[in-house]
Amino acid sequence: MTQPLRVLYVTPELSPWVKAGGLGEVARELPAALAREGVDVRVLVPAYPALRAALKAAPVAAIHAPGGELPASQLLEAHGAVPLYLIECDACYGRPGSAYQSPEGVDWPDNDLRFGLLSRVAALLGSAASPLDWKPDVVHCNDWQSGLAPAYLAFTAGPRAATAMTVHNLAYQGLFPASRLAALALPEAAFRIEGLEYYGKISFLKAGLHYAGQLTTVSPTYAREILTPQLGFGLEGLLRRRAQDLTGILNGIDTGVWDPSRDAHLAAPYDGAHLERKRLNKTALQRALGLPQSSEAPLLGMVSRLVEQKGVDLVPGIAPMLVRARAQLVVLGQGEAKLENALRALAAGYPRAIAVRIGFDETLAHRIEAGADLFLMPSRFEPCGLNQLYSMRYGTPPVARRTGGLADSVVDASEANLRAGTATGFTFEAPTRAALRAAVKRALDAYRQPETWRFLQLNGMARDWSWGPAARATVEVYRRALAVSSRA
Ligand code: ADP
Ligand code: GLC
Repeated sequence: MTQPLRVLYVTPELSPWVKAGGLGEVARELPAALAREGVDVRVLVPAYPALRAALKAAPVAAIHAPGGELPASQLLEAHGAVPLYLIECDACYGRPGSAYQSPEGVDWPDNDLRFGLLSRVAALLGSAASPLDWKPDVVHCNDWQSGLAPAYLAFTAGPRAATAMTVHNLAYQGLFPASRLAALALPEAAFRIEGLEYYGKISFLKAGLHYAGQLTTVSPTYAREILTPQLGFGLEGLLRRRAQDLTGILNGIDTGVWDPSRDAHLAAPYDGAHLERKRLNKTALQRALGLPQSSEAPLLGMVSRLVEQKGVDLVPGIAPMLVRARAQLVVLGQGEAKLENALRALAAGYPRAIAVRIGFDETLAHRIEAGADLFLMPSRFEPCGLNQLYSMRYGTPPVARRTGGLADSVVDASEANLRAGTATGFTFEAPTRAALRAAVKRALDAYRQPETWRFLQLNGMARDWSWGPAARATVEVYRRALAVSSRA
């Protein structure tokens, strides 16, 4: 019998305990799906206080200070369907706040060391010097926080794991001053254009993109978009040179957690055969957010990190139209103060039509998916996007910009797509208020045609977004990574 493929999956976030966005969810679900495909996968993640509190973990190895200013740490193991390795290092991770920021929302000043350590330990576990008997065939990195691992491995002598790097978002690059090279125990030889240098700085993300054997990103359309100057964030040249090694794989979702018929967060669970019960969730949501409890008023929902990427600044442009159409809007999000304030002001200006909640609230996120009639995602770019997948599954057709994973998952309710029976939502092209308004108008018109509406809802609910296809495509990427490394 052949050995199962051994993969170390490296992540800075892990849902439900430590999650800033979609990466936390993917890091929980893709490894589980890989395990179902027969991969011997283990996850490496910093031992944040929330993980230490939630998991029973025992020490398995001491890790000496790996050089530079990177501190010593201890590796803990927690058992489960997917085994976890936690890096315990109080100097780096033993603090309150999110994975990246203080409770006040400011990036930790030593994030280079915190994620340099994550990357360094990943590389160690992928090398012959690993203190563990279990040696991965592939080290799979995610986003800039583990981007240095392929660089460390490239400068490691002896047998070592192949590497794959997934980009969840090219906008976050992990840039630090060149003077930190020695602190991160990186060789001078890595600091060049054909390496991890990016306009005079150290780029964790570029390190991953340059040194990893295979690259993936989270949708086929985003894989093409990042080859262009518009969405390549200055890395399009490197990515174009590596286009043969880059695969776009659409994320799946946890269809158990996001299931309107079994969702414990909802006032009234429902399925396609009992769509009328969705209305009870709408009334409950209106009541909870202090909006008039009207079942006729079309209710738009939005759940989002409040950052430029998500097109939040386009939203005020639809307010007058919503009022004219007697529609309502609820927004849940947190992020940049400027955008939070703009939304607060919008709600204050239209108290009977618009409700805004600033904060991170898992329960309310589920209730909005279920209670809204339409889901808004006007993203300027969107590598994959999970909310549109949740909303389709909840019979809440999305209004989304045609970009990245939104383009790959939402089928516009054009005449042709309606006739073909494939439509699931509304898409628009230009990142402008006018284009968003036109798409929302089309959606509101369709909402007033019950048959068309029901058809859209049921179509979306019937789509299968489970993880199997993504896991199988990822296994193919591992095989290519192994083939590349055996030729090196
Ligand atoms: P991104 O990772 O860019 O933020 P995704 O759509 O991939 O975008 O994933 C976002 C995830 O985070 C979704 O599950 C979404 O519901 C959740 N989320 C975002 N903001 C909030 C919030 N304020 N409260 C609760 N959940 C949120
Ligand atoms: C990033 C992207 C988002 C994607 C998520 C998970 O945060 O912004 O589009 O869904 O990663 O891959």
